[in-house]
Amino acid sequence: MKYRISHLHSREVLDSRGNPTIEVELQLSDGSKGSAIVPSGASTGIHEALELRDGDASRYLGKGVLKAVEIVQKQIAPLVVEKEISSIESLDRWMLEADGTHQKSKFGGNAILGVSLAFSHAVAASRKIPLYQLIGEWMGRSAAEFKLPVPLMNILNGGVHADNGLAIQEFMVVPHGFETFSRSLRAGAEIFHHLKKILHKKGLSTGVGDEGGFAPAMTSNEKALDLICEAIQAAGYTLGKQVALALDVAASSFFDTESKVYSMAGEKWDRNRMVDYYASLIGKYPIVSIEDGLEEDDWSGWAALTQKVGARTQLVGDDLFVTQVARLQKGIDQSTANAILIKVNQVGSVSETIHTMNLAREKGYACVVSHRSGESEDVTIAHLAVGSGCGQIKTGSASRSERIAKYNELLRIEERALAAGHKIGYAKPW
Ligand code: PGA
Ligand code: ZN
Repeated sequence: MKYRISHLHSREVLDSRGNPTIEVELQLSDGSKGSAIVPSGASTGIHEALELRDGDASRYLGKGVLKAVEIVQKQIAPLVVEKEISSIESLDRWMLEADGTHQKSKFGGNAILGVSLAFSHAVAASRKIPLYQLIGEWMGRSAAEFKLPVPLMNILNGGVHADNGLAIQEFMVVPHGFETFSRSLRAGAEIFHHLKKILHKKGLSTGVGDEGGFAPAMTSNEKALDLICEAIQAAGYTLGKQVALALDVAASSFFDTESKVYSMAGEKWDRNRMVDYYASLIGKYPIVSIEDGLEEDDWSGWAALTQKVGARTQLVGDDLFVTQVARLQKGIDQSTANAILIKVNQVGSVSETIHTMNLAREKGYACVVSHRSGESEDVTIAHLAVGSGCGQIKTGSASRSERIAKYNELLRIEERALAAGHKIGYAKPW
């Protein structure tokens, strides 16, 4: 099948933090339309695709994206409009070749990704199929492999997503012991509400951080974990069996590259202390997944951590792999981590995301599809999780509409698949 783009438009809109981001609208010659809003991180990895921002301090403190908007209209549009496009690969390839840089620093990963995502939506509309089905086909999945993912819900926020003294960025609940996605989501939401009550009773703040989890002032990771365990039990669920825990440490954000130490719990810890600490936490709490436990370039530390706890715990490379084939391949070669976080804007195009996820699958690495801390109403990642059949999605807590938008889309996918009589599985990674 061949497609022709007849219109390509982009504009500056705002993300969930009130920072500008790019929205792309695209129309195919058959009238089908697609649009997408690009997300934006705060604890970004240094190896990510470049997010092009204007840098003009007189607008949005330098964070405007008018340059990226103009690149879509003036540089990408002439490349792709009215051309015959046979696949997402060829569309992305044209943009990547014209950009010509390693980190998409000429066009910006945000401009390229916006076009790539909007095209994907338009093709799904043209074919009158859900986006997850199209992505699944592009990835080489059969319909039997589509799966609703287990949600990893970040109900307590720390790190650079909150201002509360916790070094660890994300404390997640993993409601995995249920038969359907909707039942898991319900458990996660109920635990969130119980946690709110518990925090309130203890006189702790119930205001939320960037990803919709609570952000009470505290410094002890164990205290945070204890409160979450209490909330799981108060909600009537069995700790570990029905609901497990996961962490995103985002360790690069409190690592000092000069002295090579981590600022943890008011102390300076080296890599060995960090590794031992994780082993002890896993012994005390039902933690099934740890993301970015060490900083983004400590390959040997990561290998040591993998050796120590990788057989029983999912170790997810986020800033380490930045959704990129070359870094994932390095991890595979060095037996580093056993899972990868998938963020479309870290790599900057749909086809590259697909390649990375397929390499992970081929090598037995789990994939966790993820939002960014700066998000919008865009729900593309819900479809990526289902179509890839990867089984896990991390898209925030049970609050803030930009997080809930993804969960609601998954509820719609679940309901429509059921109504259409399609068998769509629910992942059970644990
Ligand atoms: P970010 O956070 O979007 O701010 O990078 C998410 C994460 O680290 O997983
Ligand atoms: Zn992360």
